[in-house]
Amino acid sequence: MLHLRPYTPTDREACLALFDSNVPAYFAPHERDDFVTFLDDDLVEEHLPYFVLTGSTGPIACGGIGLRVGEVRMCWGIVSRLRHGERIGTFMLLARLCLGAKMGATRAGLDTIPKTVPFFERFGFVVVGGEDDHYGPGIHRRDLQLAFDSTTIAHLHARLAEAARDRFDLGLAFDLLTRANVDLRCVGNVNFARADDGVRAVIVNMCATLE
Ligand SMILES: CC(C)(COP(=O)(O)OP(=O)(O)OC[C@H]1O[C@@H](n2cnc3c(N)ncnc32)[C@H](O)[C@@H]1OP(=O)(O)O)[C@@H](O)C(=O)NCCC(=O)NCCS
Repeated sequence: MLHLRPYTPTDREACLALFDSNVPAYFAPHERDDFVTFLDDDLVEEHLPYFVLTGSTGPIACGGIGLRVGEVRMCWGIVSRLRHGERIGTFMLLARLCLGAKMGATRAGLDTIPKTVPFFERFGFVVVGGEDDHYGPGIHRRDLQLAFDSTTIAHLHARLAEAARDRFDLGLAFDLLTRANVDLRCVGNVNFARADDGVRAVIVNMCATLE
Protein backbone atom coordinates (compact mmCIF):
# COMPACT_ATOMS: atom_id res chain seq x y z
CA MET A 1 0.00 0.00 0.00
CA LEU A 2 1.32 3.43 -0.96
CA HIS A 3 0.51 6.13 1.53
CA LEU A 4 -0.20 9.78 0.81
CA ARG A 5 0.59 12.12 3.67
CA PRO A 6 1.51 15.76 4.23
CA TYR A 7 5.08 16.80 3.52
CA THR A 8 7.30 17.54 6.50
CA PRO A 9 10.77 19.14 6.43
CA THR A 10 12.30 15.73 7.08
CA ASP A 11 11.15 14.78 3.57
CA ARG A 12 13.26 17.56 2.03
CA GLU A 13 16.23 15.46 0.91
CA ALA A 14 14.01 12.67 -0.37
CA CYS A 15 12.00 15.14 -2.44
CA LEU A 16 15.18 16.64 -3.84
CA ALA A 17 16.27 13.12 -4.75
CA LEU A 18 12.97 12.67 -6.62
CA PHE A 19 13.75 15.86 -8.51
CA ASP A 20 17.33 14.73 -9.23
CA SER A 21 16.10 11.42 -10.60
CA ASN A 22 14.23 13.36 -13.30
CA VAL A 23 17.27 15.40 -14.44
CA PRO A 24 17.82 15.87 -17.31
CA ALA A 25 14.86 14.02 -18.84
CA TYR A 26 12.23 16.29 -17.29
CA PHE A 27 14.06 19.02 -15.39
CA ALA A 28 17.12 21.12 -16.13
CA PRO A 29 19.74 21.21 -13.35
CA HIS A 30 19.24 24.94 -12.79
CA GLU A 31 15.57 24.36 -11.86
CA ARG A 32 16.71 22.66 -8.66
CA ASP A 33 17.20 26.04 -7.01
CA ASP A 34 13.56 26.89 -7.74
CA PHE A 35 12.44 23.65 -6.13
CA VAL A 36 14.62 24.30 -3.08
CA THR A 37 13.06 27.76 -2.76
CA PHE A 38 9.63 26.20 -3.05
CA LEU A 39 10.34 23.64 -0.31
CA ASP A 40 12.19 25.97 2.03
CA ASP A 41 10.31 29.23 1.56
CA ASP A 42 7.08 29.02 -0.43
CA LEU A 43 5.62 26.10 1.49
CA VAL A 44 6.22 27.87 4.77
CA GLU A 45 5.19 31.37 3.73
CA GLU A 46 2.08 30.39 1.78
CA HIS A 47 1.12 27.33 3.85
CA LEU A 48 0.59 25.31 0.71
CA PRO A 49 -0.69 21.76 1.01
CA TYR A 50 2.16 19.56 -0.22
CA PHE A 51 2.16 15.80 -0.12
CA VAL A 52 4.51 12.89 -0.35
CA LEU A 53 3.58 9.42 -1.45
CA THR A 54 5.58 6.81 0.40
CA GLY A 55 6.25 3.18 -0.31
CA SER A 56 8.35 0.67 1.59
CA THR A 57 11.52 2.51 0.56
CA GLY A 58 10.32 5.99 1.52
CA PRO A 59 8.99 8.81 -0.69
CA ILE A 60 8.45 7.83 -4.31
CA ALA A 61 6.45 10.88 -5.41
CA CYS A 62 5.55 14.35 -4.23
CA GLY A 63 3.22 17.10 -5.32
CA GLY A 64 1.09 19.90 -4.00
CA ILE A 65 -1.37 22.58 -4.79
CA GLY A 66 -1.57 26.32 -4.64
CA LEU A 67 -4.61 28.49 -5.09
CA ARG A 68 -5.13 31.57 -7.17
CA VAL A 69 -8.56 33.14 -7.14
CA GLY A 70 -10.80 30.38 -8.45
CA GLU A 71 -7.92 28.26 -9.72
CA VAL A 72 -6.09 25.38 -8.10
CA ARG A 73 -2.51 25.21 -9.32
CA MET A 74 -0.65 21.94 -9.58
CA CYS A 75 2.76 22.52 -7.94
CA TRP A 76 5.90 20.45 -8.36
CA GLY A 77 4.33 17.06 -9.04
CA ILE A 78 7.25 14.64 -9.29
CA VAL A 79 7.36 10.85 -9.54
CA SER A 80 10.66 9.02 -9.05
CA ARG A 81 12.17 8.34 -12.44
CA LEU A 82 12.46 4.68 -11.39
CA ARG A 83 8.69 4.49 -10.87
CA HIS A 84 7.35 6.18 -14.00
CA GLY A 85 4.63 4.30 -15.80
CA GLU A 86 3.10 2.75 -12.66
CA ARG A 87 0.08 5.10 -12.59
CA ILE A 88 1.58 6.95 -9.64
CA GLY A 89 1.50 10.27 -11.49
CA THR A 90 -2.13 9.60 -12.35
CA PHE A 91 -3.02 9.06 -8.70
CA MET A 92 -1.11 12.11 -7.51
CA LEU A 93 -2.74 14.33 -10.10
CA LEU A 94 -6.27 13.02 -9.50
CA ALA A 95 -5.86 13.40 -5.75
CA ARG A 96 -4.80 17.02 -6.08
CA LEU A 97 -7.48 17.85 -8.64
CA CYS A 98 -10.19 16.41 -6.40
CA LEU A 99 -8.80 18.30 -3.43
CA GLY A 100 -8.78 21.54 -5.41
CA ALA A 101 -12.33 21.01 -6.59
CA LYS A 102 -13.38 20.29 -3.02
CA MET A 103 -11.75 23.52 -1.94
CA GLY A 104 -13.98 25.45 -4.31
CA ALA A 105 -11.73 26.04 -7.30
CA THR A 106 -13.55 26.37 -10.61
CA ARG A 107 -10.60 25.27 -12.70
CA ALA A 108 -7.15 23.73 -12.42
CA GLY A 109 -4.04 25.19 -13.94
CA LEU A 110 -0.39 24.33 -14.31
CA ASP A 111 2.66 25.05 -16.39
CA THR A 112 4.93 22.37 -17.74
CA ILE A 113 7.21 21.37 -20.59
CA PRO A 114 5.80 20.15 -23.93
CA LYS A 115 6.97 16.61 -23.21
CA THR A 116 4.44 16.16 -20.41
CA VAL A 117 1.53 17.94 -22.08
CA PRO A 118 0.09 14.66 -23.46
CA PHE A 119 0.00 13.24 -19.92
CA PHE A 120 -2.16 16.11 -18.70
CA GLU A 121 -4.34 16.07 -21.82
CA ARG A 122 -5.42 12.59 -20.78
CA PHE A 123 -7.28 14.25 -17.90
CA GLY A 124 -8.91 16.94 -20.03
CA PHE A 125 -6.36 19.71 -19.65
CA VAL A 126 -6.03 21.98 -22.68
CA VAL A 127 -3.12 24.21 -23.63
CA VAL A 128 -4.07 27.86 -23.14
CA GLY A 129 -0.70 29.53 -23.63
CA GLY A 130 3.01 29.26 -23.18
CA GLU A 131 6.37 30.75 -23.93
CA ASP A 132 9.32 29.27 -25.77
CA ASP A 133 12.64 29.21 -23.86
CA HIS A 134 10.79 30.21 -20.68
CA TYR A 135 12.56 27.76 -18.34
CA GLY A 136 15.91 28.04 -20.16
CA PRO A 137 17.28 27.81 -23.69
CA GLY A 138 15.26 25.22 -25.57
CA ILE A 139 13.04 24.48 -22.55
CA HIS A 140 9.61 25.70 -23.45
CA ARG A 141 6.71 26.44 -21.15
CA ARG A 142 3.14 25.42 -21.84
CA ASP A 143 0.20 26.62 -19.74
CA LEU A 144 -2.67 24.22 -19.27
CA GLN A 145 -6.12 24.51 -17.78
CA LEU A 146 -8.96 22.19 -16.87
CA ALA A 147 -12.43 23.60 -16.19
CA PHE A 148 -14.25 22.04 -13.24
CA ASP A 149 -17.82 21.54 -14.35
CA SER A 150 -19.97 19.06 -12.44
CA THR A 151 -19.46 16.31 -15.02
CA THR A 152 -15.69 16.72 -14.91
CA ILE A 153 -15.60 16.67 -11.12
CA ALA A 154 -17.70 13.50 -10.99
CA HIS A 155 -15.42 11.91 -13.55
CA LEU A 156 -12.29 12.88 -11.60
CA HIS A 157 -13.72 11.45 -8.38
CA ALA A 158 -14.60 8.21 -10.11
CA ARG A 159 -11.12 7.93 -11.57
CA LEU A 160 -9.53 8.70 -8.20
CA ALA A 161 -11.61 6.05 -6.48
CA GLU A 162 -10.61 3.57 -9.15
CA ALA A 163 -6.94 4.57 -9.01
CA ALA A 164 -6.83 4.42 -5.21
CA ARG A 165 -8.48 1.05 -4.86
CA ASP A 166 -6.31 -1.45 -2.98
CA ARG A 167 -3.11 0.37 -3.82
CA PHE A 168 -3.10 3.93 -2.60
CA ASP A 169 -4.04 5.14 0.85
CA LEU A 170 -5.07 8.76 0.79
CA GLY A 171 -4.11 9.22 4.41
CA LEU A 172 -6.04 10.72 7.25
CA ALA A 173 -5.31 14.35 6.52
CA PHE A 174 -6.21 14.17 2.90
CA ASP A 175 -9.24 12.04 3.58
CA LEU A 176 -10.56 14.61 6.02
CA LEU A 177 -9.84 17.41 3.62
CA THR A 178 -11.66 15.81 0.74
CA ARG A 179 -14.69 14.88 2.78
CA ALA A 180 -15.07 18.21 4.49
CA ASN A 181 -16.89 21.26 3.34
CA VAL A 182 -13.96 23.51 2.63
CA ASP A 183 -14.68 26.73 0.81
CA LEU A 184 -11.67 28.66 -0.35
CA ARG A 185 -13.11 30.57 -3.26
CA CYS A 186 -11.94 33.99 -2.23
CA VAL A 187 -8.28 33.30 -1.69
CA GLY A 188 -5.13 34.75 -3.07
CA ASN A 189 -2.97 32.50 -1.00
CA VAL A 190 -4.41 29.46 0.67
CA ASN A 191 -6.87 30.48 3.35
CA PHE A 192 -8.36 27.86 5.55
CA ALA A 193 -10.55 30.21 7.54
CA ARG A 194 -13.78 28.63 6.41
CA ALA A 195 -12.81 25.04 6.97
CA ASP A 196 -14.78 23.31 9.70
CA ASP A 197 -13.11 22.58 13.04
CA GLY A 198 -11.97 19.04 12.30
CA VAL A 199 -10.41 20.02 9.04
CA ARG A 200 -8.89 23.15 10.49
CA ALA A 201 -7.21 21.05 13.16
CA VAL A 202 -5.69 18.83 10.52
CA ILE A 203 -4.53 21.77 8.46
CA VAL A 204 -3.10 23.57 11.46
CA ASN A 205 -1.22 20.39 12.20
CA MET A 206 0.00 20.22 8.61
CA CYS A 207 1.09 23.83 8.68
CA ALA A 208 2.79 23.36 12.00
CA THR A 209 4.90 20.62 10.50
CA LEU A 210 6.01 23.06 7.83
CA GLU A 211 7.20 25.67 10.27
C1 LIG B 1 4.64 13.41 -15.82
C2 LIG B 1 4.68 12.36 -14.72
C3 LIG B 1 4.12 12.95 -13.43
C4 LIG B 1 3.84 11.15 -15.14
O1 LIG B 1 3.84 10.22 -14.05
P1 LIG B 1 3.76 8.64 -14.28
O2 LIG B 1 3.53 8.02 -12.96
O3 LIG B 1 4.93 8.15 -15.06
O4 LIG B 1 2.49 8.53 -15.21
P2 LIG B 1 1.37 7.36 -15.20
O5 LIG B 1 2.02 6.04 -15.01
O6 LIG B 1 0.30 7.73 -14.25
O7 LIG B 1 0.84 7.51 -16.70
C5 LIG B 1 -0.51 7.29 -17.05
C6 LIG B 1 -0.57 7.19 -18.54
O8 LIG B 1 -0.03 8.40 -19.11
C7 LIG B 1 1.03 8.06 -20.01
N1 LIG B 1 2.07 9.07 -19.92
C8 LIG B 1 2.84 9.35 -18.85
N2 LIG B 1 3.69 10.34 -19.16
C9 LIG B 1 3.44 10.68 -20.44
C10 LIG B 1 3.99 11.66 -21.34
N3 LIG B 1 4.99 12.46 -20.98
N4 LIG B 1 3.47 11.71 -22.59
C11 LIG B 1 2.48 10.90 -22.97
N5 LIG B 1 1.92 9.97 -22.17
C12 LIG B 1 2.40 9.88 -20.92
C13 LIG B 1 1.53 6.70 -19.54
O9 LIG B 1 2.17 6.02 -20.60
C14 LIG B 1 0.26 6.04 -19.11
O10 LIG B 1 -0.41 5.55 -20.24
P3 LIG B 1 -1.30 4.19 -20.20
O11 LIG B 1 -2.45 4.47 -19.25
O12 LIG B 1 -1.76 4.02 -21.62
O13 LIG B 1 -0.40 3.13 -19.71
C15 LIG B 1 6.14 11.83 -14.52
O14 LIG B 1 6.67 11.55 -15.77
C16 LIG B 1 7.05 12.79 -13.79
O15 LIG B 1 7.07 12.85 -12.57
N6 LIG B 1 7.86 13.53 -14.56
C17 LIG B 1 8.85 14.44 -13.97
C18 LIG B 1 8.23 15.65 -13.33
C19 LIG B 1 7.25 16.36 -14.23
O16 LIG B 1 7.49 16.54 -15.40
N7 LIG B 1 6.13 16.77 -13.66
C20 LIG B 1 5.05 17.44 -14.36
C21 LIG B 1 5.13 18.91 -14.45
S1 LIG B 1 5.92 19.77 -13.13
